[in-house]
Amino acid sequence: MIINKKLYNYIVKFSNDKESKYLKNIRKKSYNNIKKNSMSDFLQGRLLSIISRIKNPKYILEIGTFLGYSTLCLCEGLRKKGKLISIEKNKKIFNYANININNTKYKKKIKILLGNALNILPKIKKKFDIIFIDADKKNYINYLNLIKNKIKKKGIILVDNVLWKGLVIKKKKDKFTKIIYKFNKKLKKNNYNNIIIPIRDGINLIVN
Ligand SMILES: C[S@@+](CC[C@H](N)C(=O)[O-])C[C@H]1O[C@@H](n2cnc3c(N)ncnc32)[C@H](O)[C@@H]1O
Repeated sequence: MIINKKLYNYIVKFSNDKESKYLKNIRKKSYNNIKKNSMSDFLQGRLLSIISRIKNPKYILEIGTFLGYSTLCLCEGLRKKGKLISIEKNKKIFNYANININNTKYKKKIKILLGNALNILPKIKKKFDIIFIDADKKNYINYLNLIKNKIKKKGIILVDNVLWKGLVIKKKKDKFTKIIYKFNKKLKKNNYNNIIIPIRDGINLIVN
């Protein structure tokens, strides 16, 4: 988290967008030996949900399902016949995500594909209104290249962890910070319409 705990609590207190029971449950539940710190938190979840509700998308693509929390937040804005495809490479996590999703009214709208997104993405032919990139950071630039032709005009691309705990502004950067730093730099060079939102670990919001 980039902002301090007190300010975070203030923001949560005065953010009136409600989280459903099953979302709360996913955050509270424990999963055998799986650390939950890579999961979207309440605020990020609400941001994803609000963006989706404004956009009212037909198709959403998510790269990196984890336990399905962000998946379900994004679903909240889907059109009646809308669909969300999410990609997850870890079988155990994939199973947990399916259990979480099957407990909700969105189960028929979501399809989680098991496997490496680098191999799966080229096989997807649909065009999406929203794409959320939240898998392995080292492939962020590859993902951006692979989805370039899969985002509709005026579609929204969201990329998580782009402030990397605030380390992107440090002079000395470790391997992972350098990856994120390079990614943000590439976006800037490509002249995308984008803005970095300092929620949780930083989200890059790009409009096509
Ligand atoms: C940061 S978590 C996703 C968090 C989730 N989007 C959320 O906000 O709650 C990243 C997930 O991406 C998965 N992942 C990592 N590399 C991947 C790849 N190459 N293909 C598909 N999934 C991958 C990991 O197993 C992990 O579950």
